[in-house]
Order: sequence, then structure tokens, then C-alpha cells
Amino acid sequence: MRSSNFAILGSALLFSQGLCGNKPIAIPTPQPDTPIVPNDLQAFSFEFCFFPDYAGNKSHPNEFSKNLLANFKTVTGVQPTVRVGGTSQDHSYYERDQEENIRLIYTNPNDDQPAIIYYGPTFFESYHTLGNIKFFHGLNLNQNRSIQRLQEAAVEACTSIGPQLELFELGNEWNMAWGSYRGANYSELDYVHEWNRKSAAVKAAVQKACPGPFPGFMAPSFVQRHFMKEWTTEEVFNLGFDPHNLTKEISYHNYMGANDPATNAPVDWDLQYRLMNHTSIQEVLAPQIQRAKDLAHLGHPYVLGELNSIANQGITGETNTFGDALWLVDFSFWAGANNIKRLHFHQGLDYRYASWQPILGKDQPPTTRPPYYGQIMVASALGHSHNARVVNIPLKEEIESAYAIYDEDQLSKLAIVNMQAFNQTATGTRPSKEYTFEVGHHRHAKIETLIAPGSDATTDVTFAGISYDHNLAMGKPVVLGPNKFVTIENGVLRVDVSDSSAVVVTLY
Ligand SMILES: *[C@@H]1O[C@H](CO)[C@@H](O)[C@H](O)[C@H]1NC(C)=O
Ligand SMILES: *[C@@H]1O[C@H](CO)[C@@H](O)[C@H](O)[C@H]1NC(C)=O
Ligand SMILES: *[C@@H]1O[C@H](CO)[C@@H](O)[C@H](O)[C@H]1NC(C)=O
Ligand SMILES: *[C@@H]1O[C@H](CO)[C@@H](O)[C@H](O)[C@H]1NC(C)=O
Ligand SMILES: *[C@@H]1O[C@H](CO)[C@@H](O)[C@H](O)[C@H]1NC(C)=O
Ligand SMILES: *[C@@H]1O[C@H](CO)[C@@H](O)[C@H](O)[C@H]1NC(C)=O
Repeated sequence: MRSSNFAILGSALLFSQGLCGNKPIAIPTPQPDTPIVPNDLQAFSFEFCFFPDYAGNKSHPNEFSKNLLANFKTVTGVQPTVRVGGTSQDHSYYERDQEENIRLIYTNPNDDQPAIIYYGPTFFESYHTLGNIKFFHGLNLNQNRSIQRLQEAAVEACTSIGPQLELFELGNEWNMAWGSYRGANYSELDYVHEWNRKSAAVKAAVQKACPGPFPGFMAPSFVQRHFMKEWTTEEVFNLGFDPHNLTKEISYHNYMGANDPATNAPVDWDLQYRLMNHTSIQEVLAPQIQRAKDLAHLGHPYVLGELNSIANQGITGETNTFGDALWLVDFSFWAGANNIKRLHFHQGLDYRYASWQPILGKDQPPTTRPPYYGQIMVASALGHSHNARVVNIPLKEEIESAYAIYDEDQLSKLAIVNMQAFNQTATGTRPSKEYTFEVGHHRHAKIETLIAPGSDATTDVTFAGISYDHNLAMGKPVVLGPNKFVTIENGVLRVDVSDSSAVVVTLY
């Protein structure tokens, strides 16, 4: 598609870079089994210990976070669902007499996460500051001093969160518990017995304190890791996991790799290789997609209950850049097109992949970061439709991708992602690629662009000409530039997409 085709185009004519001589790409139609992509595909997971930083409390609500979440309602009609959990969930202890909402005990002050967390009843004020959001609340499976302590935590959650409590979660990434939370011989069967016993205790206590239907669980919240002996969800269910069908959603966690400073590749190389790369995204998602199929007989939706780009809170210079936002866009469309029903992007204070920094942290003040704009782009593409179906349009190169978005059977939008890295300090014209598609009877198109000064940029991102910066309007949308409109000639759409940018094309 790129300059390699110049030779055959002839020298008498001037072509913009990347224009290919190929005929317009035909757009595949949805098949009977093409799934509906829920328009609340974009969702969040807040690290348990940092939830008060994101949400604030009754006297000091975090208006910035509230605004950023409400923007999703504007573009889709629904608030995103929020899970409160993560590694710190299994280090968090409910103290019913504690006055402070949360106490964080760090081993080293510079650690990404505290080693021990104590939270009291006022912690739950944070569930009432963000608007009408549905919550999944994490319970500590690790603590085994007494069942009563677990039950007190669950009862406080159901009474305090009230109707906004959608599901519980009991334990985070327990396929890694052997050798850490438990002995090296802790087996899948031990886990099944422990989860079954404790989930039954949670249910009994909650049903007593909060009459009405029991919310249920998202489970088993294992993490996909390629380097370790795998427990499988299939095996766990075959061993008798959840005999009373308390699970409502199958949750798995996903990362593209892990931050390991001793072995990390240079960030600019890795950004292109691991994140801005459709092949790498397909490879990482393939086992998740297969697992969703294998477990479909259980009758639960399959969600990524915690995910982000690079595990261990991300890598500075890679996961906090605009390139990460492009990764997020391609990842989300590919996951949605393949029947993964929700994506809870994980957030924490000072995390290097976070979509926003909610309050002043170690050195960064509140700010909206690039991945947020990727999430807004995906949410906008799905829009208010309750029948959106996403079909991948195969392209030639692995650093580009395109999707057709159907409303029922009507082609309504296209999304194109050009993941060719572009350094923000580069001089000269920014290269772009021209894409041509056969779009039938459509006459006009609106082009909304996701762009920043480069794939390595960490600020000045916009989607559809809109900024959601903290410093402009506390996360509310501020229009900085217009959208483009193009005329479709003879059923052929032509659209230029700059290197390191993405577009949503709405067809009229
Ligand atoms: C509410 O948040 C403010 C600001 O972080 C804090 O000073 C206050 O102690 C919190 N209130 C409770 C009850 O934790
Ligand atoms: C109880 O939890 C501790 C860590 O919190 C762990 O070392 C121990 O093995 C657990 N006991 C059982 C019986 O699982
Ligand atoms: C695991 O090993 C410990 C001793 O390290 C032993 O007490 C326990 O019974 C073993 N558990 C299983 C399930 O084999
Ligand atoms: C961008 O270019 C500058 C100047 O040449 C260089 O120092 C930097 O490493 C480049 N960044 C990336 C992400 O390639
Ligand atoms: C994209 O990822 C694949 C699979 O890991 C890898 O083989 C390929 O080299 C990567 N491409 C780029 C441009 O880095
Ligand atoms: C378990 O509940 C789900 C709904 O949450 C339902 O689809 C499924 O059929 C139930 N399974 C059994 C064995 O009852």
C-alpha cells in the first residue's frame, strides 16, 4: 500500500504518498453469528486502594472524574460500568470502627501500590459521587482469619452501595495465588473449594442484610499470562466451581505484556512492535476469544474485567503516549467484533497507562491522558445504537486496521486506524495514507479524527476536534476544531488518514 507501489503508478501523475493503484476495498457484511457489540463496551476498573482518589467522597466529590465518566453517557446514552478491585483488593481489610475512609500502608514510599489497606464505612461514600453508575465491588479472598470479617465487608457493601451494586467479585487473579497468597501446592481444586465456601458465606450474609435478589459475582477473574503454568477456567468449572450458579459474568484479565525494567525493550521500538500492531493485538486476544467460545455453554457474557496495555502499571514513554490510545482503539474493536462484551480498562493513581490522573499524585497534577481519547473514539463509533455490529475489514499491513460498523444490517460507520509511528519532533509534512472503500448508495461522510502531535505525544490529543482536558473545562468537552465532511463519488469513499491517527467515518 505504501511507497512500494509508486513504481507502477507512472511518473507523469502526482500522487499523494500512499495512494495505491488498487481498486476500492469492498466492505464485508455481517454474518448471522456476528455478535451485537453493547454500547457500554468501554468500561472501567479502579484499583481498590485508589478508588477514593478517583471518586472523592461526600464532602469532596471528584468532579473531574464525574465529568469524564458522564462524557460516555453523552456519546452512547449509558454510563460506563465500574469495577472496584485489582491486586489491592486481596490486601484490603474492612475495619468497621475505622473513621478514616482508607489507610494505605506502604513497604517503600515509592511503590506503585500499598502492601496493606484498611478501609472503614466511609470508604463507601465514594460510590455516591460519580453519578448513576453500576458497580462491581471487590472482596478479599486472601484473608482467612475469619469468615465473619468477609461477611461484614460484603454486608457493608450491599447496604452502602445499595441498588448501584451490580455484582461482587471474590478474589483477583487467583490463578497466581499458589506460591504467593497460598502454598506452592495450592491447587485448582483447593481454589474451587475455597471460593465455593466463601461465596456461599457472602451470599448468606448479604441475603439476610439486603433482601431481594442476590447480585451474584463476576468470576473467576484469572489473568492470562503466557509464561506460567496455566489454570484454565474450563478445568475450574469441571472441578465443581460455583455449584449454585452465582456467577453472572465470566471475567478474565488481559495485558499485552508486563513491565519488567530488567528486560524492557526501548520504548519507541516496543510501542510500535507490541502496541501499535494489529498482529500483536490479534495474537494476544486469540486465546481470550477461544475461551469465550469454550465457555459459552455456561450462559454468561464474557468480559475483560480488568485490562490495560502493559501489566505492572505500564511503562513511561510507551503506555502514557498517544500510541497507546491507538492500541486501545484497535484492541477494543477487535475484541468487540469477536464477542467480548465489556472492557474494564484498569486505572490507578500515577499508573503509567491510566486514562486520567484524578488528583495530584507523586508529581503529576490532574490531567486527561491519551488513552481516554481512544476510549471516547470507540464509544462514539458505537454511539447510541443497541444493535451495533462490528466487522473487521482485512487490510494488507499489520500496522493498520479498519472496521465497518453496522446498525442492524445497515452500514453506518467506518473506523480506520493508521498505526504507523510518527515522532512529534519530526520536521516536514506528516505522511498519510489514502483509503478507498466501496460504500454503495451513500453520498456524504463526516470524518472525526483522533489525533495528537505524534505517537510519542502525551498531551494535546483531540477526537472530533474536542478536548477533554482538565485545564480547559475539568474534563467537559471543549470544541477546538471542526470536523471534515467529504462527498462520496460514485459510491467510492476516499479518506486520508495521517500516520499515527484514526478516524470514525459516519456515512450519510
Ligand atoms: C474526604 O476527602 C477529603 C479530601 O481528600 C479528606 O480530607 C476527608 O478526610 C475525607 N473524608 C472522609 C470521611 O474520609
Ligand atoms: C491463610 O492466609 C495466609 C495468608 O494470608 C496463608 O499464608 C495461609 O496459607 C492461609 N491458610 C489457608 C488454610 O489457606
Ligand atoms: C501443602 O503443603 C503443606 C505443607 O507445606 C501441607 O501442610 C498441606 O497439607 C499441603 N496441602 C495440600 C493440599 O497438599
Ligand atoms: C523522536 O525524535 C527525537 C529526536 O530525533 C528522538 O530523540 C526520540 O527518541 C524520538 N522518539 C521516538 C519515540 O522515536
Ligand atoms: C507485530 O507483531 C508481530 C507479532 O508479535 C511481530 O512478528 C511483528 O514483527 C510486529 N510488527 C512490527 C511492525 O513491529
Ligand atoms: C446460570 O445462570 C445463567 C444466567 O446468569 C443462565 O444463562 C444459565 O443457563 C444458568 N445455568 C444453569 C446451569 O442453570
